[in-house]
Amino acid sequence: MRISSFALGCGLAVTINVGAASAQAPEPPARAVEFYRTACAQCHGNDGKGGGPVAHLLATKPSDLTTLARRNNGAFPFFRVGQIIDGREDIALHGGREMPFWGDMFGFEAGDRFGTTVREVYVQGRIYELVLYLNSIQQ
Ligand code: HEC
Repeated sequence: MRISSFALGCGLAVTINVGAASAQAPEPPARAVEFYRTACAQCHGNDGKGGGPVAHLLATKPSDLTTLARRNNGAFPFFRVGQIIDGREDIALHGGREMPFWGDMFGFEAGDRFGTTVREVYVQGRIYELVLYLNSIQQ
């Protein structure tokens, strides 16, 4: 399970570059859709528009995730969306951020078994699966 996730992560990292270059991104894997529904939808809503069941409890309204491309002159910002989901490098958002730090969470999920480099590949693979999903729901 862990090994195949790792392989998937590597595969995705390569496909993303190709996809971005040809403006034709691959479909998200089924588990990314499932992960979105269990980990993101309570805030961002099943439809991604920001109206999940706990949204009203937050000081900051969860973003509408279906307009990321539209708000970026029509181009889906792959890399930036990945960085935002990851959260670990977004110093500016520290303190104010209500979004969980998914990069840390996926790091815990990977554990220490494979060492730092492989863990990071795993984390990035998991993040880019979600990026692919968000790309697929752009309006
Ligand atoms: C606890 C509520 C919560 C959960 C769970 C959550 N988010 Fe968010 N998200 C937010 C809020 C609030 C914002 C607005 C920025 C902030 O936190 O200040 C946001 C912002 C974002 C943004 C930036 C959008 C923009 O317009 O720049 C992305 C991308 C995003 N979330 C993706 C996700 C994904 C993918 C997941 C699941 C893995 C997720 N979020 C889970 C609350 C949440």
